[in-house]
Amino acid sequence: MTDQSSNQMWGGRFAAGPDAIMEAINASIGFDKRMAAQDIAGSRAHAAMLAATGVITDNDAEAIREGLLTVLSEIESGSFQFSTALEDIHMNVEARLKEVIGEPAGRLHTGRSRNDQVATDFKLWVRDQFDAAEKGLLALIKALVDQAEAGADWVMPGFTHLQTAQPVTWGHHMMAYVEMFGRDLSRVRDARARMNESPLGAAALAGTSFPIDRDMTASALGFDRPAANSLDAVSDRDFALEFLSTASICAVHLSRFAEELVIWSSAQFRFVTLSDRFSTGSSIMPQKKNPDAAELIRAKVGRIFGANTALMMVMKGLPLAYSKDMQEDKEQVFDAADNWMLALAAMEGMVKDMTGNRESLAAAAGSGFSTATDLADWMVRVLKVPFRDAHHVTGALVAMAEGRGCDLPDLSLEDMQGVHEGITEDIFNVLGVENSVNSRMSYGGTAPAQVRAQVQRWKEILAG
Ligand code: ARG
Repeated sequence: MTDQSSNQMWGGRFAAGPDAIMEAINASIGFDKRMAAQDIAGSRAHAAMLAATGVITDNDAEAIREGLLTVLSEIESGSFQFSTALEDIHMNVEARLKEVIGEPAGRLHTGRSRNDQVATDFKLWVRDQFDAAEKGLLALIKALVDQAEAGADWVMPGFTHLQTAQPVTWGHHMMAYVEMFGRDLSRVRDARARMNESPLGAAALAGTSFPIDRDMTASALGFDRPAANSLDAVSDRDFALEFLSTASICAVHLSRFAEELVIWSSAQFRFVTLSDRFSTGSSIMPQKKNPDAAELIRAKVGRIFGANTALMMVMKGLPLAYSKDMQEDKEQVFDAADNWMLALAAMEGMVKDMTGNRESLAAAAGSGFSTATDLADWMVRVLKVPFRDAHHVTGALVAMAEGRGCDLPDLSLEDMQGVHEGITEDIFNVLGVENSVNSRMSYGGTAPAQVRAQVQRWKEILAG
């Protein structure tokens, strides 16, 4: 006889129940109850398969199916009593099933272990999150493409080292992020395709002697195929690591854009006006409108990449197959997923609502000698001066303008000819910002025509 307080699921060889501290460190129900729907879906697939293969009777399978639906509705309605003594979602569901349907509940766990069960549940959960991330990325990309289309020919300064470099177009800048989020989208799709193999039926680690049909459960749960090695199936958390690393790279992109929005919305830049819906005020400084959403998106990469690092560290020293360490996977992934989806949605909202300030962008585009390269290129093209010499001459003209506190187009033709006699009146066309961007017609360049071509390409991709 076992002690009454030992665990009803595995208490057979135990004389006493766990210490309270043991229960506290061991239990995962506080967080893995988020996988209740996946757990019940996995159990339903498993029970149907056990009946189809003759391992349990159809009557038992039907009782299990109905009982699981009852348990699911109790969980969904909030009436389910979760118990820490029952450790995790798997045992909570099974124990309740026993209360609801009695003896047949005890047959559900045939040819299965919590090890393949938890891997299956967690994969189903992560797969849903990949799908949510795909949706969020598509919506964000669409918002950016719309911004790019509206401002395909708006000029603004392009930066390197955050110093004025060459004029670019607003549309070009927006489309740069479209490319970044497009790569994130492709990573999400790759990882989702790679992870879609069913661990169910790997049992504890070695497979099972029951005549189970793993193809049947795999296809019932929307997996492409059963995982081919039972040891790997129960000890693999690559899908979670790929989820977190994909999320981390995307969070880096979100953070970079958020940083730009913080800078651009400052009084010193005034490149964009963020909508009131995504800003806050200050309780003391009445003039303030703070880009809080952008700042928080910028910060999210910290916890998302933190989760990635944490799970890498949990996994790195584990021998095959399952170890309880792996229970630490869920909170990291849950938190990262919640925050990734939130950041994507907040960024989409901000991008949709923000207004690019065309005049400020144009004014800034012309300052800081942004067309100096155009001047040098013109000398190469028209005067056949070697680029290095043209660079030198242009440098001298920039120094002259800087000395006078003016921009390049403010110098007179005589000033310019004093530095290089070949320069003609034509140079003033070249020094215009619009001319500069229109001339950058190389594939992928900033010319509005190139930007519109990329907008078109992405619209076709988005239309699917
Ligand atoms: N709660 C556990 C987890 O999240 C389920 C698997 C437990 N398996 C075991 N052999 N104790 O990893």
